[in-house]
Amino acid sequence: MSKKILLSGIQPSGKPHIGNYFGAMKQFVEMQENHECYFMIVDYHALNTIQDAKVMRQNIVDLATDYLAIGLDPRKSVIFKQSDVSEHTELAWIFDTITTMPYLARAHAYKDAEAKEKEISVGLFNYPMLMAADILLYDADVVPVGADQKQHVEITRDTAQKFNHIYGETFKLPEAKILPDVAVVLGIDGRKMSKSYGNTIPLFAEDSEIEKAVMAIVTDSSGGVPKNVYEIHKLFRSEAELAELYKQHEGKYKALKEALIEDIKAFIRPLREKRKEVADDVGAVLDILKKGGEKAKEKASAKMDAVREKVGVKLY
Ligand code: TYM
Repeated sequence: MSKKILLSGIQPSGKPHIGNYFGAMKQFVEMQENHECYFMIVDYHALNTIQDAKVMRQNIVDLATDYLAIGLDPRKSVIFKQSDVSEHTELAWIFDTITTMPYLARAHAYKDAEAKEKEISVGLFNYPMLMAADILLYDADVVPVGADQKQHVEITRDTAQKFNHIYGETFKLPEAKILPDVAVVLGIDGRKMSKSYGNTIPLFAEDSEIEKAVMAIVTDSSGGVPKNVYEIHKLFRSEAELAELYKQHEGKYKALKEALIEDIKAFIRPLREKRKEVADDVGAVLDILKKGGEKAKEKASAKMDAVREKVGVKLY
């Protein structure tokens, strides 16, 4: 039986945090063992926020390094950047032509930006169409993501159905894979962990950064258990282990934070060491990305050819 196809991506918009890891990246590593995998660096999506070439270049190399450091393996998976496969933007355009503005205006990311009275680029408005193209070009069955991407995968399914309805069966409908326990990893202020809230614990943090972040976790003094500390601690230890620890240190927030610091340090240290090794050979990282791009292009261009045929622009 052929393997199911998995595709997922991360924006090269800064250092990944433990929310990205537990919500999505950890699944990438586990699932590469029994799926045909495509792991993307979605640089064209990130252009909505990163508009400095030097920063963009560095972020792309950094994220590729991160992917390799957590254990994504180019012998098992295709690791590539979106901009190496121009079919993504091409297909996004075709999706634009079958999608209405009111439909896209219902997207959470757009509505949030609008509520905050941000200046909204067409690229941000259109973001879900490019993401639909990312997924549908590879006939992905499964898309491991955090809960914040659920709507994007639903839009992808709607778009596939719409295209299939107009032009005939072309795209497979993908499923989001969201693990309930880590669907929304909380940050040090109790809101969703997010770079834009400045409430993250970076995945490859130095020991001093871990100490600083954990000591800054917002606690309230209403009960014996500091909720925001516990929520993060749950990522690193079983609830049974925590029950004992939190009973032992009931009401002692400093001791609980210190225990959390030790657990996070023990978890991050080997990842950070591995990352340093990978980062030593930038040439090898670039080579993996380049080859990954070539492989991805092969698959995407065959699909795109079929799409051009379906819409009637392929004449020779
Ligand atoms: P991005 O770059 O914002 O985040 C990468 C992944 O991390 C997950 N995540 C979280 N999970 C749990 N708790 C959190 N606090 C948390 N914060 C982030 C995200 O859900 C995501 O899985 N639109 C996507 C990138 C993308 C993509 C794709 C993903 C573009 N094309 C195709 C899958 C398939 C994004 O901005 O993720």
